Amino acid sequence: MPSLPLHEQTWYAAARAYYLLHSSVSPCDQEEAQRWSQTHRSLYDTFITCVEEAHRLASAALHYAWAPYSRFPVGAALLATDGSLWQGCNVECSSFGLTLCAERVALGHAITHGRREFVFLALVTDTETPLTPCGACRQILYDFAPTLLISSQGARGQRRALWWLDELLPSPFSGKEIWKR
Ligand code: THU
Repeated sequence: MPSLPLHEQTWYAAARAYYLLHSSVSPCDQEEAQRWSQTHRSLYDTFITCVEEAHRLASAALHYAWAPYSRFPVGAALLATDGSLWQGCNVECSSFGLTLCAERVALGHAITHGRREFVFLALVTDTETPLTPCGACRQILYDFAPTLLISSQGARGQRRALWWLDELLPSPFSGKEIWKR
């Protein structure tokens, strides 16, 4: 097993191989990912272990969701570059606009413990189709992890949806615009 933490680019390479092996991409990309995962067997296995643990923790967080108004519980788990995992669930409020999404709760949880770099996000809902993160969550996640890989699963265990954050948020607003002034 490679010892954690891993360098951000190493995580990214593992996430890329995982994405290519689990998405409908060209046979050439599939082959490249196969080769990479075989050459870096223990690293790739570590990544898979983290992915499965993130999904397990997101499912556990789903049970703590506070969603009495929408009855739409969401669980999340965010993998930081040091290998730690941070759970979140949605927290609704009687003043509806104050509701917190599971992704942002997970992010706040991680940041409160000094983590600021992330590799992977698992989302779990109890719906038929996997949840796609809302626009506000995409933006705040982008601020910390523009190359985040997101995997989302409905509770009935059907195929997970997999996206790169920058696929979901094309032409993002970036903090760079602020510092340029
Ligand atoms: N929700 C999330 O937790 N994450 C999202 O990305 C979309 C929506 C929550 C907020 C609210 O509690 C419920 O789902 C219905 O919108």
